[in-house]
Amino acid sequence: MIGRLVVVGLGLIGGSFAKGVRERGLCREVVGVDLDPQTRSLAVEQGVVDRCEDLATACRGADVIQLAVPILAMEKLLGVLAGLDLGEAVCTDVGSAKGSVVRAARRAFAGRVQRFVPGHPIAGSERSGVEAANGDLFRRHKVILTPLEETEPEALERVDRLWRALDADVEHMQVEHHDEVLAATSHLPHLLAFGLVDSLAKRSENLEIFRYAAGGFRDFTRIAGSDPVMWHDIFLANREAVLRTLDAFRSDLDALRAAVDAGDGHQLLGVFTRARAAREHFSKILARRAYVDAMQDNDLIYLAQPGGHASGHIRVPGDKSISHRSIMLGSLAEGVTEVEGFLEGEDALATIQAFRDMGVVIEGPHHGRVTIHGVGLHGLQAPPGPLYLGNSGTSMRLLSGLLAAQPFDTVLTGDASLSKRPMNRVAKPLREMGAVIETGPDGRPPLTIRGGRKLTGMNYDMPMASAQVKSCLLLAGLYAAGETSVTEPAPTRDHTERMLRGFGYPVRVEGRSAIVEGGHKLSATRIEVPADISSAAFFLVAGSIAEDSELLLEHVGINPTRTGVIDILKLMGADIALENTREVGGEPVADIRVRSAKLKGIEIPEDLVPLAIDEFPVLFIAAACAEGRTVLRGAEELRVKESDRIQVMADGLQTLGVKAEPTADGIVIEGGPIGGGEVYSHGDHRIAMSFSIASLRAMAPIRIHDCANVATSFPNFVELAWHVGIRVGEEGGV
Ligand code: S3P
Repeated sequence: MIGRLVVVGLGLIGGSFAKGVRERGLCREVVGVDLDPQTRSLAVEQGVVDRCEDLATACRGADVIQLAVPILAMEKLLGVLAGLDLGEAVCTDVGSAKGSVVRAARRAFAGRVQRFVPGHPIAGSERSGVEAANGDLFRRHKVILTPLEETEPEALERVDRLWRALDADVEHMQVEHHDEVLAATSHLPHLLAFGLVDSLAKRSENLEIFRYAAGGFRDFTRIAGSDPVMWHDIFLANREAVLRTLDAFRSDLDALRAAVDAGDGHQLLGVFTRARAAREHFSKILARRAYVDAMQDNDLIYLAQPGGHASGHIRVPGDKSISHRSIMLGSLAEGVTEVEGFLEGEDALATIQAFRDMGVVIEGPHHGRVTIHGVGLHGLQAPPGPLYLGNSGTSMRLLSGLLAAQPFDTVLTGDASLSKRPMNRVAKPLREMGAVIETGPDGRPPLTIRGGRKLTGMNYDMPMASAQVKSCLLLAGLYAAGETSVTEPAPTRDHTERMLRGFGYPVRVEGRSAIVEGGHKLSATRIEVPADISSAAFFLVAGSIAEDSELLLEHVGINPTRTGVIDILKLMGADIALENTREVGGEPVADIRVRSAKLKGIEIPEDLVPLAIDEFPVLFIAAACAEGRTVLRGAEELRVKESDRIQVMADGLQTLGVKAEPTADGIVIEGGPIGGGEVYSHGDHRIAMSFSIASLRAMAPIRIHDCANVATSFPNFVELAWHVGIRVGEEGGV
């Protein structure tokens, strides 16, 4: 609690700040200063302030002075304040541009700005004036503070605390950065809206345009209804940053004009598809924010009720590995590639976004259909910034191979989980081929890949069985001089080899080695992505462990390098049958029927480990439901997946009362009753889904934390699970 708050300028923002502070009892007294007598009396009447005084009287003995006058009036006000005795008071402001206010403050206080904390609440209302003051105006709105080098930490802390007490989301930023960001996201759009409406309105013959103006025009120009004087102030105050964004926009607009002029549909489609994707991404962020607001934190919780069964026919989403590769090879091919059955999960979308950032026109996905306008092996362009790959290890590792050979530099980043994953496994062999790659500390992301290097083919003996490493090197091999041969210690998924052939690129397979030669080309093709066996695996286990169940999983990819989960479950006694086996676009596919069975514990053959590498979390659930002991060895790779899957699964199983002992390279699980409880997925999609399946045999509800990443591989998991009779849902959902 502080003593006296003085608010100078009792408009909407100043009034709302004063009122919020007063209502929450954060200060002993709130004193207002305003030039307008009517505003002063309204402010007192409406409880916005305790009283109003003149500036000098109010400021004597003040603890915080909030300057909420129009931005162009700030310079004069600061000059007057500098002549007063402000004691230990901290000054702060709410101006929408910070550079000009800071310059004015430095001039007024002759450089002594230690107790000045520049600020900007990003909030407003259609209404204005003290009569619109609302103590909750800043709730869940961003407030940006732009402390200066000299700002005393205690002064910053005081202002920061006040805003937080008003439930604002406070962020700190450099002055210049603030002005650039606001110029781009707020000032430029306002300029365009004002400008467009005026431009149409002043052509009198065009006035009738407004009669036909539909939703698009109305939406686009809504902000032209904002306060003209305030905006005039803002553009004068943030001139430099606005000019920079405006110039950049003008050159993009000229490029669009040229495309229209030249009838260049490809260019237009590129801009529009990229913009649409960016806009959707942006609304998702906003949606997630709304969710975060509601939940107070970022924890999406699944609540799985005990019992339930698993019956019906379902088709799980498209294969993640194949979806990634379809975008990569489709982009590098010559011609237009059509994809069907594409996985619309966040991981595969991250790959699409990366290629859009590198200038590839990609339409969709829409109901699993994607159209890729390939640019050829040498047609990628430098992206405008780092490529953000979310949670997707496959995107980062495979991309690093093909980016190592591009003429431009790239930086690859990811979310918290991806940022912990080992990248030396690709960086080291790529360097041997001539690539220049820097990693973060301990070989983790971000990866910085230097362009313009000539790669040379090599023979590489992989130390671990990894399809991602193999694929990365084969993709680099497309650009390398001579042959690139990758030998794996055990078979891993071979989608890259199969799909390269599908695009007409020669690949030789000799024993455990896959070999490509640089210098051939990829020709566009059609790809039908089968359903992902890794997603089907949850239902293979569900159908096995739940009583009286029978499920038919349609159109599942059964590439022999992926079917370890079926072999392991069959060894445990599962009743699984493949029906209608066929080949679709170079990949074998079947409908899989699974019925309830009594499972027994087994020693999992080590040669099946790489063939079931993503399915172990749910296989551990099967083991917990089996009679006897299941032992897994030779699976240390599980410790470096989206989470340490051995530890995280062991912790969760133990919480549910299952005997599960982690070992360095595996786990030992004793089958037995499963209880309820709180388990943590650590943001690992497959762990979240596995514990949902466990509920079928649990004796009490299971609450699973941190489930948002299920959307990376299986966006409709909850719907499909519910559809077959598994009673899992988002907590608080309907
Ligand atoms: C993948 C390979 C596997 C797998 C991952 C997808 C791929 O990773 O775990 O989910 O698409 O190549 P590793 O190659 O690291 O084993």
